[in-house]
Amino acid sequence: MAKALIMDHPLIQHKISLLRDKNTGSKEFRELVSEVGMLMCYEATRDLPLKEVEIETPVATAKTKVISGRKLAFVPILRAGLGMVDGVLSLVPAAKIGHIGLYRDETTHQPVEYYCKLPADIEERDVIVLDPMLATGGSAIDAINMIKKRGVRSIKFMCIIAAPEGLEALQKTHPDVPVYCAALDQRLNDDKYIVPGLGDAGDRIFGTK
Ligand code: PRP
Ligand code: URA
Repeated sequence: MAKALIMDHPLIQHKISLLRDKNTGSKEFRELVSEVGMLMCYEATRDLPLKEVEIETPVATAKTKVISGRKLAFVPILRAGLGMVDGVLSLVPAAKIGHIGLYRDETTHQPVEYYCKLPADIEERDVIVLDPMLATGGSAIDAINMIKKRGVRSIKFMCIIAAPEGLEALQKTHPDVPVYCAALDQRLNDDKYIVPGLGDAGDRIFGTK
């Protein structure tokens, strides 16, 4: 089973504390989600392959390294995953972006699909799925199913806060997908919200509540 990597860098932990605070307004919340996305992306791309090239510096010829191998695509799960896109693109500006629209039915808590637009060449890319919240795991599992149906072989999942229930379900269904998260919380409540969590990420990013 692929491991879950908890990214507990002090900068990330500090920013998550601000995200959890119910008094943090939408503007700051949005900026923090983007910043945490960027910091997590730095770690999640640590295993990108490199190749040696030769360049001319103003002083001499240098053997140096550049990223090689397959190109990247990021796939945010709408809506809240959109909040992480600017941050990851600031590090990997050439990546393509796919979008998967899922919302949780308020009664059943099951994900409902309403949109899917992925890059035409996605099967040739390494894909990182973005969603700040992994609660029951239903949305992440469905999104990864949709991406696998398109022939993608290399997928990572990146979330800011995970519940143990969601992490277990995701790892059971997609054992080949490494999970990167910044905090593993206590549990889900009866409404399937993460405890202590940060509330509804989409509503807080877009100011819809
Ligand atoms: C939230 C969150 C995840 C999902 C996690 O989205 O952004 O996509 O819930 O829950 P799960 O692990 O139980 O599936 P939501 O359905 O609230 O939609 P939104 O982002 O459009 O607000
Ligand atoms: N979606 C959210 O935005 N927050 C939760 O705690 C659970 C699902």
